[in-house]
This record gives sequence, C-alpha cells and structure tokens, in this order.
Amino acid sequence: MRPADFDYVRTYVREQAAIVLEPGKEYLVESRLEALARREKFVSVDALVDTLRAKPSDPLHRRLIDAMTTNETSFFRDLHPFEALRKIILPEIRQKREADRTLNIWCGAASTGQECYTVMMVLAEHFPEVLAWNFNFIATDLCLDVLNQARAGSYSQIEINRGLPAPMLVKYFTRKADRWEFREDLRKRIQFRELNLVKDWAFMPPLDIVFLRNVLIYFDNDIKKAILGKIRRILRPGGYLFLGGAETTINLDDQYERVVLDRTTVYRTPSIRTT
Ligand SMILES: C[S@@+](CC[C@H](N)C(=O)[O-])C[C@H]1O[C@@H](n2cnc3c(N)ncnc32)[C@H](O)[C@@H]1O
Repeated sequence: MRPADFDYVRTYVREQAAIVLEPGKEYLVESRLEALARREKFVSVDALVDTLRAKPSDPLHRRLIDAMTTNETSFFRDLHPFEALRKIILPEIRQKREADRTLNIWCGAASTGQECYTVMMVLAEHFPEVLAWNFNFIATDLCLDVLNQARAGSYSQIEINRGLPAPMLVKYFTRKADRWEFREDLRKRIQFRELNLVKDWAFMPPLDIVFLRNVLIYFDNDIKKAILGKIRRILRPGGYLFLGGAETTINLDDQYERVVLDRTTVYRTPSIRTT
C-alpha cells in the first residue's frame, strides 16, 4: 500500500481507538483494508483511502476503526482464570456481598461474546442464587460488528468447537439452522453496549469484577496506565481485575495487589481505598 496511506490510517486509528499499528504492520493493515474495500464496493484500497481523506465525517471512518480491531476470542479462553473465578473469587465475593446482595461485573473487550457467556455459564452452573440478586453484567466493545454478534449470542460450529465443553453446549445453547444460540433467559441478563476504552464511560456502576483481557496489548503505556487507573477507581475495594496472559499492571499501576490464584494471576484493589 502507499506509505502515506499507511501513515494516514495508523494515525487515525491511534487517535480514535488508541490502537498502535507500528511500521512493519503494513501487510496486516493492507489485508484488512482490502476486505473493507470489497465490502464497501471500492475498486481498490487506494480508492478507499482517497475517499476517507476527502470525506472526514463520512461513516466509513467508523467502519475503518472496526476493521482495524483484532477480535480473536474463544469460550473458556486460557481456562485457569475461570477456575479461579469459580473456586475462589465468586465464593469470596458472594460472602462479602451477602448483606446487600449486589454483584456488578464488566467485560470490557467482549468481542463476539464468548468471554461474557463463559462467565455467565460459571454463574448459572455454580452460583445460580446470585442471578436473583441485584445483578448487573455489562459487556462492551468498540467494534459494532462483534458487539452485534455478542448481543445475538449466535455462534458457528467452528466457534463452538473452540473451548466449549459438550455438556455446556447441550445445557446452554439451542440449535438455530446451522448456528448455536446462547440461552435467551441468560443472554438477556447481560447489557451489551458500545464503549471505547479511551473515551467516556460515565455509566459504569461500582464494580466487583472486571474482565479486560487481551486488549491492553494494543495500546501504548500511557494509555494502559490511564485505563488501569480508571478501572481501579470504579472497582469496589477488594474488587478483581482479570487481564490477558501477556498483560500486567506491573510498572503501570502499583496500587493493584497482584494475586496468584489457581494457576492464574489476577489484580485486586486494596480493601481500603487509597485514591
Ligand atoms: C483480542 S479481543 C479480546 C476478546 C476477549 N476479551 C478475550 O480475551 O478473548 C480484543 C477486543 O478489544 C476491542 N478493542 C480494541 N480497541 C478498543 C478500544 N479502544 N475500546 C474498546 N474496545 C477495544 C476489539 O474490538 C476486540 O474485540
């Protein structure tokens, strides 16, 4: 692709979504632009970028951001975080919140929904009483395409085959033509919303558990620090943050406690709020 086009795209994506596309990622950017150009019926990537430059407020810019996100995910991804959730974190929080019976969970880079439905299955399977509490489960993503799929809870056989145990498929999904749909009664308990992590998130309630897995890797250190600080301030004291296996708070935010639980590392806010 034309070097000036690569610069235009990477600057725009960084400004709007904080996603860093270093020099060397031209091939990735070009292949995603080719797919976008085909979908939007442009004759070439050059023609697509020319239009983006010429029409700065065209909705095509929104679709450019979506096209530049990486939405890789799967059910029970990495397994151990969900074991820690089931064995240690949810029993602890259930006991702690027994008096006011509230539980607030946020899945902050939900992609196509496998992560939040995994959490929902852990809850329904092992802590069904909590679902009768004042229970808020918010799942957000920047990319509208993946958010729509998450909201629909609809998966291909290939997506199901990635990580979903057969007994869970039988219990929590129904077949709809060639796809599988997550159980509607539980699906409706999750609020799906568009949210850009580098913009405003004023609607978020005080949270007990945050999943923010495999998204900080796309950002630079200043953005990671800002997001981790913001999450720490909306987590309740003693609340838990799950990050991806390649992500950490170390050297970014030293006010989280790093806790190793059931072969996974999670991050906990101090029991007494410091800032
Ligand atoms: C690799 S997926 C991670 C999905 C899931 N959390 C997991 O670990 O399996 C990263 C997600 O982050 C989202 N994302 C990227 N930049 C974002 C931003 N600035 N605000 C919100 N979401 C963003 C992408 O759209 C994508 O769906």
